[in-house]
Amino acid sequence: MDNTPAPRDTPRSGTRLDSYVDRYAARTAGMTASEIRALFAVASRPEVVSLAGGMPNISGLPLDVVGNAIGDLIAANGPVALQYGSGQGDPRLREQICEVMRLEGIDAHPDDVVVTVGSQQAVDLVTRIFCDPGDVVLCEAPSYVGALGVFKSFQCDVVHIEMDADGLVPEALEQAITTVRAAGKTIKFLYTIPNFHNPAGITLAPERRPQVLEICRRHDILVLEDNPYGLLGFDGDPKRALRADEAEGVIYLGSFSKTFSPGMRVGWALAPHAVREKLVLAQESATLCPPSFSQMAVSAYLTTHDWQGQIKQMREMYRERRDAMMDALRDYMPASCAWNEPDGGFFVWVTLPPGIDAKAMLPRAVTARVAYVPGTAFFADGFGSGSMRLSFCYPTPERIREGVRRLAGVLEAEMELRETFGAGAPTRGLEGRSGYDAPSSDLS
Ligand SMILES: Cc1ncc(COP(=O)(O)O)c(C=O)c1O
Repeated sequence: MDNTPAPRDTPRSGTRLDSYVDRYAARTAGMTASEIRALFAVASRPEVVSLAGGMPNISGLPLDVVGNAIGDLIAANGPVALQYGSGQGDPRLREQICEVMRLEGIDAHPDDVVVTVGSQQAVDLVTRIFCDPGDVVLCEAPSYVGALGVFKSFQCDVVHIEMDADGLVPEALEQAITTVRAAGKTIKFLYTIPNFHNPAGITLAPERRPQVLEICRRHDILVLEDNPYGLLGFDGDPKRALRADEAEGVIYLGSFSKTFSPGMRVGWALAPHAVREKLVLAQESATLCPPSFSQMAVSAYLTTHDWQGQIKQMREMYRERRDAMMDALRDYMPASCAWNEPDGGFFVWVTLPPGIDAKAMLPRAVTARVAYVPGTAFFADGFGSGSMRLSFCYPTPERIREGVRRLAGVLEAEMELRETFGAGAPTRGLEGRSGYDAPSSDLS
């Protein structure tokens, strides 16, 4: 028997790269780094036009006003701003959040608001208090990648529901509920982004809103309404929130990331009273309390600055960029591509000619100095390879135009290759996908 001790750098289990690999909790299996993360390091080089990232464009923020408000805050209220605070969040900010939500028809009480570390944390807390492994969360197809990551990390089964140009399709929702329940699964909630959807750029039509609420009410399914872009519409007044017409069956999530500063990390959940209690307990065990300083800085900004005027400016800036994106798509993209015209938010969803795989094409696009996010990132089930998300929020209109020009060149070369050498391996994509398919392995 060999009693030689193992060399110190040789793990007894796991792999050389991660000696803990056998010890992680099962829930970490769903926590995987994006396959395209490495490419994004390259995509962030200045010579690459990135139509990939969804970073809010905060270049118009009056930094002097924000700086002064923060200086005054510390001078007048430093001992509170630099101290722990309440697990539910700052009372004054919660009142102001109710004023913000009133713009979308919501009549809420500050007692029912929980401040969170961005709305991302609100998605996490809601999932934490509702979902056991194997529970089903219904999501649009496609859906927000950050929420899909949360659902995966809590070992939920995501079932995607078809969207069309008017948003979530009510009949597909009804059908999915029936099919999932027939398979003996428990649906915990519908996660939906009704306005200026990330990534699809679509808005749920007004006539569909009561239909979606009615279906969920009838089937006793909670709605998680995620609305970070709601005030960033390009035309008309803000859309009426689902929560405005249904207080008991909807948890509403909001954020100051897109309308003020993502660096503040301040978002919120508005929840039915009993759920709110559980969210506060979950918040306390996650962070003790949301950061006092950020909350009070946001509150000071809302008090001292014309924040609605600032949002108006942001909407105009984003609309100009949307227009640049639409013009460039029309001018340069092959006729066999399709896209929608978003009327708010940051994103447009492009459907590629049959057989083109957006993920396989990405390295060639980055070589041609343009980046996007392949559609597969926004599906939990491997669909979406025939689509991509383009964002118009960050680059200047000129850079957007140049980026689309480069992208169209890459696409044309790709299509030519396919014509010359044939279809190659078949790709999966949105093509032909309609609603929720019969239960497959992910439901058994
Ligand atoms: C749909 C959606 N929900 C939630 C978030 C999270 O935003 P934050 O945590 O900054 O409030 C984002 C950010 O991009 C988003 O697009």
